[in-house]
Amino acid sequence: MRFCIGLVVLMGCDDSLFVPQQTFGSDWAGTREMLSVQCADCHPSGSQVLPEDDLRADRVSMPDVVHTDVCEDLGKYVVPGDLGESQLWRIVTGIRRESDPPQMPSGRSKLTDAQVADLEEWILSGADADCD
Ligand code: HEC
Repeated sequence: MRFCIGLVVLMGCDDSLFVPQQTFGSDWAGTREMLSVQCADCHPSGSQVLPEDDLRADRVSMPDVVHTDVCEDLGKYVVPGDLGESQLWRIVTGIRRESDPPQMPSGRSKLTDAQVADLEEWILSGADADCD
């Protein structure tokens, strides 16, 4: 009983660092949900993590940027079928290139292995994103 109370207090104090452990699935619905849960509090729709005069700012709304990137075939974040060419995969696994953004989610625990595995499956199976 004392353990439960302690746990609630701990999680209550520490929720900014709490990274959900559940899996979301490897289809677009699951990928979108994962990006929303893991990234959208820092990258919400319409928000700008970067300064307003920085042209990159309008590209950081998760999961919207990934949807646009895939549906317009831009290849900035995701190259369907190719993990190494997908910046999204590189920055969540830490297998970054020098020019890549820092590992994400920034300042928190990494995505779980299962969450990364689902993301990999989504990219490798063609990164379908319900474009129309
Ligand atoms: C705790 C806040 C936080 C979380 C959570 C977070 N990010 Fe970020 N993200 C940032 C900050 C701050 C920057 C700007 C970093 C910089 O350039 O030094 C950034 C930058 C980025 C960029 C670079 C933008 C661009 O187009 O150049 C991408 C891509 C990105 N984040 C993806 C993600 C993804 C994917 C997730 C979830 C797995 C995520 N972030 C979670 C804070 C966060």
